[in-house]
Amino acid sequence: MNNDHQKPHAIVIPYPLQGHVIPSVHLALKLETKGFVITFVNTQSIHQQITKSQPNHSDTFGDDIFTDSRKSGLDIRYVVVNDGFPLGFDRSLNHDQYFEGVLHVMSAHADELVGETIKTNPPPTCLIADTFFVWSSMISNKYNLVNVSFWTEPALVFTLYYHVDLLRKNGHVGSLDTYFIYNREDTIDYIPGIGAIEPKDLMSYLQASDTTTVVHRIIFKAFKDVKNADFIICNTIQELEPQTISALHEKHPTYAIGPIFPTGFTKSVVATSLWSESDCTRWLDTKPPGSVLYVSLGSYAHVSKNTIVEIAQRLLLSGVSFIWVLRPGSINSDETDVLLVGFEEEVKETGLMVPWCCQIEVISHPTVGGFLTHCGWNSILESVWCTVPLICLPLLTDQFTNRKLVVDNWKIGVNVCDNKQIKAEEVAETIHCLMNGKLGDELRKNIEVVKNKLENALSTDGSSQVSLEKFISDVKIKTQ
Ligand code: UDX
Repeated sequence: MNNDHQKPHAIVIPYPLQGHVIPSVHLALKLETKGFVITFVNTQSIHQQITKSQPNHSDTFGDDIFTDSRKSGLDIRYVVVNDGFPLGFDRSLNHDQYFEGVLHVMSAHADELVGETIKTNPPPTCLIADTFFVWSSMISNKYNLVNVSFWTEPALVFTLYYHVDLLRKNGHVGSLDTYFIYNREDTIDYIPGIGAIEPKDLMSYLQASDTTTVVHRIIFKAFKDVKNADFIICNTIQELEPQTISALHEKHPTYAIGPIFPTGFTKSVVATSLWSESDCTRWLDTKPPGSVLYVSLGSYAHVSKNTIVEIAQRLLLSGVSFIWVLRPGSINSDETDVLLVGFEEEVKETGLMVPWCCQIEVISHPTVGGFLTHCGWNSILESVWCTVPLICLPLLTDQFTNRKLVVDNWKIGVNVCDNKQIKAEEVAETIHCLMNGKLGDELRKNIEVVKNKLENALSTDGSSQVSLEKFISDVKIKTQ
């Protein structure tokens, strides 16, 4: 398929959501430094949002988010693809419709684009597509490409989706085309590579009574399709999920190559942010070390007015300093301004509210001592890297399952919701103790242990480096 002297050429296609684009860009950069030619594919809509979020966007970069890295000689080509909707369509307000488009229409555009890319030199040898795409094997087969599935969440979450048939058979998850009435509430202890897990720790989609939504259709199709992948690469670490990864590896060649971060864990040279980043550094510089709580609920979830009011009350009661990221459009209410105007005034000495920031810059600042998080997987890895303990407020999707790893397995964070409502005073007390007391010290001790695992994995002979090299060599063997 490929001449010996030709470089391997990978087409990398992230799922068009913030938390997937970020690790995919850094995966692409990593592979390029290992000798790959990369064609990186963003949707037009993601590209436009990234472009608009840049300061002075009209004159910084036009058509290519990799322009700056290319100046240093990297061979990364950049193309955009239509996701099936006009640019003006508000994707964040219409998730279901958006995902229908990604499910049905984007495949045709991606197919066409790969068909064009095949004609470039050197010809592409593999397709690295996000696991949630349902069409990866169809396109890989058509163009004779090695089919690599890129999983951006923990191996635990992958494994649970992978074995959804087993969960259905045992009555823990509803069937594909019906409402699920009786959900078993006992422990799940029959999934290979997973000791035991409670139903409350499953991903929100597997806890739902209606498993017929578009997101369910995507997940179930994608996890059928992934069984045809040649290789699976995961943004996780062997030492963090040893049994789960080993069990997966018995089914498919699986490579844990995480954590995938920007080089040096500093602000990326490639623009990846979908919203403009406010500068928080000057404000943080005025605070004592470890005294600021960082609050962010990620890039995807929408939250209710109640949740916002509760967070505000709890922050006030706790008395801690905080930076609170409130993403534009993330609240299911038109009353945001009314809700927060008094609050902002009340906390103007201790709190900073921003619409978006460079998160890795903020949590690596020495004054940040805690992270109230929705438990997105990227946020967890980033927080571990900065040894910042977590206060967990999962909202949807994999976040409940990720929370189990953080709170139960690694003991590097605490819950502030667990099915039942926890009283405001208790949450405020938890926040206070994490920032100022013994609780924070204990969690920080544990997080050091987990951070060491991440650091070791990335060292020269570390598990993630070895896995990455093995993956690269296996791809090359497959394309000879
Ligand atoms: C969802 C899933 O829950 C997550 O597990 C999956 O890996 C991606 O999609 P999301 O809401 O995007 O999560 O959260 P997360 O995974 O934490 O990713 C958010 C990314 O945006 C992080 O890399 C974070 O550093 C970045 N971010 C967030 C910013 O740069 N600025 C902000 O203000 C907030």
